[in-house]
Amino acid sequence: MEDAEARELSKKILAMQEEERHRISRDLHDEIGQFSVSLGSALNIIEKEIGKRNFDTTLRLIKNAKKILTDTTNKIRTLFIDLRPAELDMLGLPSVLRELFSHYTKSYPLNIKFRENIGSIRIKDDAAITLYRVIQEAFNNIIKHAKAKNVKIGLLLKKGEINFTIEDDGIGFDADAFFKEANVGKFGLRGMRERVDLLNGKFLLQSKSKNGTKISVIFPVTEEI
Ligand SMILES: Nc1ncnc2c1ncn2[C@@H]1O[C@H](COP(=O)(O)OP(=O)(O)O)[C@@H](O)[C@H]1O
Ligand SMILES: [Mg+2]
Repeated sequence: MEDAEARELSKKILAMQEEERHRISRDLHDEIGQFSVSLGSALNIIEKEIGKRNFDTTLRLIKNAKKILTDTTNKIRTLFIDLRPAELDMLGLPSVLRELFSHYTKSYPLNIKFRENIGSIRIKDDAAITLYRVIQEAFNNIIKHAKAKNVKIGLLLKKGEINFTIEDDGIGFDADAFFKEANVGKFGLRGMRERVDLLNGKFLLQSKSKNGTKISVIFPVTEEI
């Protein structure tokens, strides 16, 4: 690799890491800020209602406050999972993904189907981490933008290649237009594509308005001895 090319690459990686930190700090700030405000005002109202001895109303308000707490705990757990690429090397990608999907199903109203034929075959660490990151960002987008009910994930070994797909049935968007525009500050999809490029994988995004979104990644590397 040429010097200039290597510099360009490390700049991109740094920008990606920086963007990830920004997103996590923004999410933490939003979630915790929102949580404190909601819970603070719920407690104020509860205090007043107890003063007036309106116990039925108070009970309802306490139930609401508990719901706010559960939702926030789920969101904060998602952020923790985001920060730590789990026990990839110990458990292998399929097991780690099952754990991640079970967390998503518990936290969000999504029906997730996961099909894989990797079993205990080890995928190279860098490819496994890249796939894990692509999946996390794809789910961030599904939760944030897609309004989807169903998500299908495939992780299939075929002819010495790993074929990965993640597909939602949400509102979709104009993917071609997105990549043509500069879209300053939006690094999610670009970051995914860049990570896959770095490992010489193929990255494909298909989305049409109202027709959901599908991301495919193909890696030539399959096994590690
Ligand atoms: N699964 C999806 N369903 C619908 N729209 C999506 C999906 N994924 C991405 N998008 C659209 O593509 C845009 C770019 O996504 P991304 O690069 O991750 O940036 P960000 O999530 O920060 O907006 C989003 O703002 C959204 O409009
Ligand atoms: Mg995003």
